[in-house]
Amino acid sequence: MASQVLVAANRGPLSYVLAEDGSLTARRGGGGLVSGLSAALARQPEALWICAALSDADREAVRRGVAEPGVRMLDIDPGTYDDAYNGIANSVLWFTHHHLYDIPREPVFDARFRRRWDSYTAYNDAFAEALAQEAAEGAAVLVQDYHLALVPGALRALRPDLRIAHFTHTPWASPEFLGMLPDDVRARLLNGMLGADLVGFHTEAWARAFRAGAGAAAAGTKTAVFPLGVDGDDLRALARRPEVDDKLAGLRAEVGDRKTIVRVDRTELSKNILRGLLAYRELLTTHPEWQHRVVHLASAYPSRQDLEVYRAYTASVRELAAEINAEFGTPDWQPVLVSVEDDFARSLAAYRLADVALVNPVRDGMNLVAKEIPVVSEAGCALVLSTGAGAYEELRADALTVNPYDVSRTAEALHEALTMPAPERAERTKRLAAASTALPPSAWFEAQLKALTGR
Ligand code: G6P
Repeated sequence: MASQVLVAANRGPLSYVLAEDGSLTARRGGGGLVSGLSAALARQPEALWICAALSDADREAVRRGVAEPGVRMLDIDPGTYDDAYNGIANSVLWFTHHHLYDIPREPVFDARFRRRWDSYTAYNDAFAEALAQEAAEGAAVLVQDYHLALVPGALRALRPDLRIAHFTHTPWASPEFLGMLPDDVRARLLNGMLGADLVGFHTEAWARAFRAGAGAAAAGTKTAVFPLGVDGDDLRALARRPEVDDKLAGLRAEVGDRKTIVRVDRTELSKNILRGLLAYRELLTTHPEWQHRVVHLASAYPSRQDLEVYRAYTASVRELAAEINAEFGTPDWQPVLVSVEDDFARSLAAYRLADVALVNPVRDGMNLVAKEIPVVSEAGCALVLSTGAGAYEELRADALTVNPYDVSRTAEALHEALTMPAPERAERTKRLAAASTALPPSAWFEAQLKALTGR
């Protein structure tokens, strides 16, 4: 049966695990996009989610015809997929939108880039074709993120009857960074996006950057801002599960009565974990009174480890944390506790315990951690927040804001956060939690549907 509402995203709501006996089990997919969209689609039972098979187990599931209701996985050739996902989406587009290039060396647009770009085009075409097959007459299609920037244009050519939206979960590159792309590639990228009726972003800053980059060509496409928030009730219920209570007891035993500075991120270059650790080290030096009295809980779970630059970054995070522990640690005090497991229960336990939340990305589409911690923290937490996070637009008034490159200012903000009087902390946390829950995933999704279809 053809669908009236379709979502397209690289990552699906689930992925498969292939056991040694050959059986396949479905697991929930990871990442901010997946958790937000899954929550939104729980209220759209008729919707179809089209995603890529990410692993051999996923491809096996597609071949065996194993399917969950409401999900269609595309079995894309592994080489094409790797070029599109790792080679272009994560190495070029992610770096462009987050301004991550080490400019004296990168980017390099050569023959290898061109081959990968062709794969990216083929991968986008596969999504457009699948959507064209599955969509009912006049259906609404919501395409997600930089992986699928060419889909709106390609789909429009196949099915002019559809209502098409594109939503970007990352920042949008400034015109200077967008201008680094070869002219024809930049034009194709923009034309792909502008095939949509509606182009959405988390914040006005990213929408403005898009309009500035697209220039007059953007006239036919509506840009709009839908700042994704968290569902407070869901999140609090998740944080009260017995599993989280157990993790909390474990963390309390490790931390004792010391204060906590908490961060939770994928090990991601844009999250600025290294400067966060440098700021913590500077705090322990310039304010030695905090030695023995604070613990930094840094959860940095692995991400995109197929890319060498991410493996190197992960290693640097571990090394710097070990250096700080070697420099300041004593037999009864470990200054930094790094956790590299993707353990949401432990993260929620850390949120509950947080006195200070450190969210200092260099550039980030939204950053939902900044919104989750105030909702879950028990005693109220002081939020140290980068001006580069999308969440800065909504949370700046009650956060201690920092330039993400300014390690000394970040160290000072950590000190201010640790010394913030309890009543002020509680008041600010209340307001931060209210702002964070203003547009929960279901409302975020419905607002886009409404803007797209008028319904
Ligand atoms: C960011 C992107 C999402 C992506 C997530 C995880 O939040 O905006 O699209 O789902 O990172 O990245 P991954 O490469 O693991 O899917």
